[in-house]
Amino acid sequence: MATKKETVLIDGRLVAKKIKAEIKKEVAEIVDRGENGPHLAAVLVGEDPASQTYVASKEKAAHEVGMISSTYRYPADITEKELLEVIDYLNSDDEVDGFIVQLPLPKHIDESKVINRINPAKDVDGFTPVNVGNMVLGKPALLSATPYGITELLKHYKIKTEGKHVVVLGRSNIVGRPISILLSQKAEFGNATVTLCHSKTKNMSDITRSADILICAIGQPQFVKADMVKEGAVVIDVGIHRLGDDSAKKGYRLVGDVDFNAVAKKAAYITPVPGGVGPMTIAMLLKNTLLSYKKEIH
Ligand code: GUN
Repeated sequence: MATKKETVLIDGRLVAKKIKAEIKKEVAEIVDRGENGPHLAAVLVGEDPASQTYVASKEKAAHEVGMISSTYRYPADITEKELLEVIDYLNSDDEVDGFIVQLPLPKHIDESKVINRINPAKDVDGFTPVNVGNMVLGKPALLSATPYGITELLKHYKIKTEGKHVVVLGRSNIVGRPISILLSQKAEFGNATVTLCHSKTKNMSDITRSADILICAIGQPQFVKADMVKEGAVVIDVGIHRLGDDSAKKGYRLVGDVDFNAVAKKAAYITPVPGGVGPMTIAMLLKNTLLSYKKEIH
């Protein structure tokens, strides 16, 4: 019987570090020319602990590569009108090259109205209709950071997508939908046959078992079990959840959308959680900020 090849752990921290080192070098050159360098701003509404952690990580990463970073914090009862005024202010501030509005927003605020207000040239999350539309059309766009990070991971590990069956679990605007579009495009790291599964998909396991590359962004802890995965598949786990664990120092441990230990035994490549897709999202946000600074997209 043929023995199974070793599973390759896709090291997002390593790839993100390499990308951040390239960005840092370029930022240093910009600053050496006497310019201020790229400035990334974040808007944080309310007290959601996960959002606070994400924004703090983004701020720290921006500083690591020599960028200017600022966070605009508002209470959860900020009105939609007030928040739109903050967006207008950041759009018009020449000192800010790119900014994000951390999601989710409180229920009384219409998220799409807020996102629509962001100047596409400063939309380093790639969430505005202009950037999404250009991405769909294969035109230059600021790409949503997580899908962009996934394509960079595939490139780094030389995982070919052409002609492969990619199955994406989850149809969110932030991950599932854009990654399904990017990988089906006529491009080197595209040309895949993509199936997008969601909560109404029937016989999901039959579909996932035919995936050469399985991208899991369904938002449910350890949803993907070993019997849903083909032997030798590439498994990309976008989920991140806190699971109560009394044996852990913090009282919880982080898990993804994939039952990692069991699925890793079957996969040829797999991303861990933490340390897989997460660090790449931040690296690509910085990359987008640099692109905005250089006005290479818009
Ligand atoms: N909330 C969860 N992920 C993200 C993200 O990538 N960007 C923003 N702005 N909010 C998020």
